Amino acid sequence: MTNEVTRRTIETVRGPMSWLEAGAGWPLVLLHAFPLTAEMWRPQLESAPVDWRFIAPELGSAVPAAGARTIDDYANDVAALLDALLIDDAVIGGLSMGGYVTFALFRKAPLLFSGMILADTRAQADTEEGRVGRMRMRELLGRDGAKAIADQMIPKLLSERARREQPDVAGRVRAIIETSPPRAMDAALDAMMRRPDSTADLPQISCATLIVVGEDDGLAPVTDADAMHRAIERSVLVTLPRAGHLSNLEQPEAFSRALADFLMAHL
Ligand code: MLT
Repeated sequence: MTNEVTRRTIETVRGPMSWLEAGAGWPLVLLHAFPLTAEMWRPQLESAPVDWRFIAPELGSAVPAAGARTIDDYANDVAALLDALLIDDAVIGGLSMGGYVTFALFRKAPLLFSGMILADTRAQADTEEGRVGRMRMRELLGRDGAKAIADQMIPKLLSERARREQPDVAGRVRAIIETSPPRAMDAALDAMMRRPDSTADLPQISCATLIVVGEDDGLAPVTDADAMHRAIERSVLVTLPRAGHLSNLEQPEAFSRALADFLMAHL
């Protein structure tokens, strides 16, 4: 069965927030990667298991016209959305940048978490070299727009195999990036380059946690997932074969199965 996916917007104390959702029941929040939008979670929303309500917030929706954002701002936006939806605990997680926001939300409100999902992400902050790369990308975005960001990021987001054998996936990723607002992308780059290191928080995570990683992820590799698995006591690690960084899009069925198995076994 394929769930219907709907887009909604609500006024929160931090401004309007929009999100995609599907299913009904226990809430599960999926935070998207950079430079994508909540659309990247469509395969998982469509296959949300019975008794689960999957919610994918648009992290860019409350970005002001001018002014910097921090990873904590995104976490506060998600907390405000959950508050507006009268949700006081949920399974919460994200992929890559969505994982960075998950760590920030955990620091702010650990009791919100009935479970956690960390997909293709890492606990460490950016290196100096990484920060220089972010500055260059902000310049590129300002000069040449979203299409240039898609050209630069797609070879990192998707495995070489997916780019060769799954043109539909590559096309979908490009379409999502090219319709992502440049203002939201710039704010996300700024927030990511200034995010704190979350390594010391990992042992505090006491809820059941699913860690997923594509075996060919070059941005947040298996070694990072292993390190999180060793530090989070109640974690389960699933490595997805034939998947790169956007493992939920390259191997949507295997990703959704890992998620459903985890929810069935641990929540
Ligand atoms: C992402 O997928 O969210 C980004 O690649 C994360 C990053 O650049 O650190």
